[in-house]
Amino acid sequence: MTEPAQYPDLVDRIVNLSKRRGFIFPSAEIYGGFRSTYDYGPLGVLLLRNVKDAWWRSMVQLRDDVVGIDAAILSSPRIWEASGHLANFTDPLVDCRNCHERWRADKIEGTCPNCGSADLTEPRAFNLMFKTYAGPVEDEATVAYLRPETAQGMFVNFMNVLTTTRKKPPFGIAQVGKSFRNEITPQNFVFRTREFEQMEMEYFVPPAEADTWFHYWLEERMRWYLDLGIPADQLRLRHHDADELSHYSAATADVEFLFPWGWDELEGIANRTDYDLKAHAAHSGERLEYFDQASGERYVPYVIEPAAGATRTMMAFLLAAYREDEVGGERRTVLALDPRLAPYQVAVLPLSKNDALVPLSREVLGLLQPVAVCDFDVTQSIGRRYRRQDEVGTPFCVTVDFESLEDRAVTVRHRDTTEQVRVPIDRVAQEIAQRLRP
Ligand code: GAP
Repeated sequence: MTEPAQYPDLVDRIVNLSKRRGFIFPSAEIYGGFRSTYDYGPLGVLLLRNVKDAWWRSMVQLRDDVVGIDAAILSSPRIWEASGHLANFTDPLVDCRNCHERWRADKIEGTCPNCGSADLTEPRAFNLMFKTYAGPVEDEATVAYLRPETAQGMFVNFMNVLTTTRKKPPFGIAQVGKSFRNEITPQNFVFRTREFEQMEMEYFVPPAEADTWFHYWLEERMRWYLDLGIPADQLRLRHHDADELSHYSAATADVEFLFPWGWDELEGIANRTDYDLKAHAAHSGERLEYFDQASGERYVPYVIEPAAGATRTMMAFLLAAYREDEVGGERRTVLALDPRLAPYQVAVLPLSKNDALVPLSREVLGLLQPVAVCDFDVTQSIGRRYRRQDEVGTPFCVTVDFESLEDRAVTVRHRDTTEQVRVPIDRVAQEIAQRLRP
């Protein structure tokens, strides 16, 4: 198989495949698109959901020390005043005096990428928060913000979760959901957009244990990407220098993926100290602390935060899975996605549209649907249908042919090897379920 790094235009190939096969569409396309926003199509919604479910499974379901929440997106300015976002959540903005384009100063090298002019304004701080109004009156009293991160929802609900779950540090609160940032230059497809999804977890720990837990989460998170198929030579951890740290962080490391344009961030893992809980306690007047009844000790926990992007990570999985190879003298495109991420896990394919085959194929589909996400396709030749399924990453195709009418068995074809085995219909669901298990 050809390695992904061999495609210089890999991003374009993924953008084309995404559009052609229904992963990701440019938003408002019939109106010419809308400012680097994207809509997730029938396959994209499945893949993105699988990424988020895999994260939730590893961060919440398989643990007894992490619980979930789903906080409001539309949020009070008081949250963002306390968190420091209204004052600090800015990027340096420069204008080109020649063509009037605007750029992020730290992402360009002294000249305008549009016209090449070096006549740029001095950088000024541009706040990335999306401001709106809650209610029918537009004035200072009704200002609201779309959240720029899911994290603050966990901090402001710290006492609610603590008292309702009776957890004690170390414990975590996880959330998956949309965040919004008025990015100056969205770029690279869904890598940087103004509307995106995050998967974040705030892990509250006794202050003396913060460093140990920081390193624990670095390892855990690396393991998650590797387990789901990101190649080890395309993944690394990069520790931030002191001058790069956010205003709340004592230590941060990024999980980086080797994108076609170079190493770039998938996730930030930070030791946020007690900054956020103390800031919200000071601004709200509420006590945000843990009281240990056994020891009589009262303290503000430190927070270790693994903060990942769901949409960005989905793009990394697509890039890492893309292959082109040749089978039976025919070129094919394959997405070698882990079966846990693949939009469809099984495609049920009647060999032809013959009246006798379709009812039996539907019977097979009915057996498989409870154990796997299935596609059902009766159009075109069987070879073309295999190619179509390979291209969207379906790990198994189940073909119902004329012999199936006699022997009540089907052919199961594997995406990566193209190997085919004959399986009795009454065992096919069990067989597929077993092969899908990690
Ligand atoms: N609570 C900490 C926090 O939000 P961040 O590094 O700003 O940290 C975490 O964001 C992750 O969210 C990033 O690593 C990235 O994967 C994703 N992300 C941030 N901004 C994004 C954007 N404009 N488009 C897509 N994903 C984004």
